[in-house]
Amino acid sequence: MKDLFGKALLDYQNGISTGSMTSVEDIITSTSISDEDILPLPYLFRSFSEMPLLEQEALQLSKGKVLDVGCGAGNHSLHLMKKGLEVKSIDISKGAIEVCKKRRLKNVHVLDIIHETETFDTILMLMNGSGFFKSLKETPKVLQHLKSLLNPNGQILIDSSDIKYMYEDDDGGYWMDANANYYGELEYHISYKGESESFPWMYIDFDNLKLACETVGLQCELILEGEHFDYLAKITKDCLKSL
Ligand SMILES: C[S@@+](CC[C@H](N)C(=O)[O-])C[C@H]1O[C@@H](n2cnc3c(N)ncnc32)[C@H](O)[C@@H]1O
Repeated sequence: MKDLFGKALLDYQNGISTGSMTSVEDIITSTSISDEDILPLPYLFRSFSEMPLLEQEALQLSKGKVLDVGCGAGNHSLHLMKKGLEVKSIDISKGAIEVCKKRRLKNVHVLDIIHETETFDTILMLMNGSGFFKSLKETPKVLQHLKSLLNPNGQILIDSSDIKYMYEDDDGGYWMDANANYYGELEYHISYKGESESFPWMYIDFDNLKLACETVGLQCELILEGEHFDYLAKITKDCLKSL
């Protein structure tokens, strides 16, 4: 892993890249089904008031001991820490964790969610948390692991999108291949300052997330819908099945 995401975050934190909507210093993203797009670095350092409503709602619902999974530059963790909550922030990106330390977050670790073992009252998975599941097939396995990290009455707050609209053609039909994998499974490419890397990343629609939750004894509730097929969901232990 080249950790381009971490490099970009560190450059921005250190004032080496300033990032803007047109700058070559921003991260360029594209996917197996979409063209290049700019991910402005300042967005990865957003304050509470600059966050989408779904993220603000997730932060307002957060309680107790919190795990911020894929914390990036630590925006959500910082907000919760300032509110007085106990927060652990993890990310597989060394650069991201270095940035979190520079931003004075205390309990931060380079760690893949699959290797987390502590338990929490709130697990936050924001900015498309279903990316960590990688594929629809893998989703129940990851959810089962997340379930083992939940304290009694604990919750997972996750946002994602139904990206079916990306397959819509001009006539209102869909060009999806019925024999292909789930339509939310993408190959995600990022490039930064001339280097690039790719990894699998998945968006999941609410119904499929709910179904996957049910297979491992979790309940999934729709909390809020965004303006563009995005949503925030709350996942909790299914009390009857946990007995
Ligand atoms: C889309 S970014 C979101 C960053 C941050 N949450 C935000 O909203 O600005 C996804 C982050 O998840 C991290 N990540 C990807 N897979 C991970 C995994 N299996 N465990 C922990 N972190 C992971 C990436 O390194 C990246 O920092």
